[in-house]
Amino acid sequence: MMPGPTALNFSEATSHDMFAQRLPQSKDDSLPQVLAAAVTHLHALIRELRPTQADWRKVIEFLTDVGHASDERRQEWVLLSDLLGASALVEEINSRRPKTATPNTVRGPFFRADVPQLPLGGNISLDGIGETLDVFGRVQDLDGDPIANAEIITWQANAQGFYENQQPDLQPEFNLRGCFRTDTDGRFHYRTIKPCGYGVPDDGPVGKLLRQAGYPLCRPAHLHFMIKAPEFETVTTHIYDGSDPHLAEDAIFAVKPELVRTFEQQGKGWLLKLTFIMVRARRGAGT
Ligand code: BEZ
Ligand code: FE
Repeated sequence: MMPGPTALNFSEATSHDMFAQRLPQSKDDSLPQVLAAAVTHLHALIRELRPTQADWRKVIEFLTDVGHASDERRQEWVLLSDLLGASALVEEINSRRPKTATPNTVRGPFFRADVPQLPLGGNISLDGIGETLDVFGRVQDLDGDPIANAEIITWQANAQGFYENQQPDLQPEFNLRGCFRTDTDGRFHYRTIKPCGYGVPDDGPVGKLLRQAGYPLCRPAHLHFMIKAPEFETVTTHIYDGSDPHLAEDAIFAVKPELVRTFEQQGKGWLLKLTFIMVRARRGAGT
């Protein structure tokens, strides 16, 4: 049977509705609804920007390059999400915590889950390059009670602003990464080196695009932490060096005042004291 005229009415005005009409209406499956919303916004953007076919091919080529630049060591899609502010917005929507609890921030593309566990006091600087930083922390609940046996995964850039997985030929594997467990008083400590602020990698398609657009790519000096404890919401966060001049220009919108600390000078090295405050897992909240 020949399709009726309305089924062939694809135009600027009708395009998104024509797409949505082909999807099933389902109360149990949100996918059709999500797709329809995404396509409605996509078509609105195309109508607004009015790309030529050549412009659109460039968009497809960029997305292809992002895919090709991604592998186990490099997460270019995560970088894109982070630099567009999308990761920070998703965090904001999903992890509203009581004011006194440690806030979540973006995890970023350099996390590795396979990091070895070290004894308390261990040194995660495997090449010994940089100014010594001793980190002393405590993990506690909202009432100030210690959380024993919490798992703390930390990762950071070196004194030149590079992560171990960005420089597999220059840095030892797992350099400046560690996993620790808190003691019965919720305390942990380890030795590292003072991190340096850095530019988000601009050697891939995402960094190149944003640099070309004049977008600032700086990340103020920081340490990353992921803290896990049974029955508590996992905290994924950063701690920033309060003396970094670029705190207000973070490329990924992950600086929050509660996460800025003073790194104290201690002889030739530095000292950092931290408290992480965790919230009991609520039903439906990500842990
Ligand atoms: C990071 O701090 O490791 C990072 C986060 C998002 C984008 C680039 C780097
Ligand atoms: Fe980082």
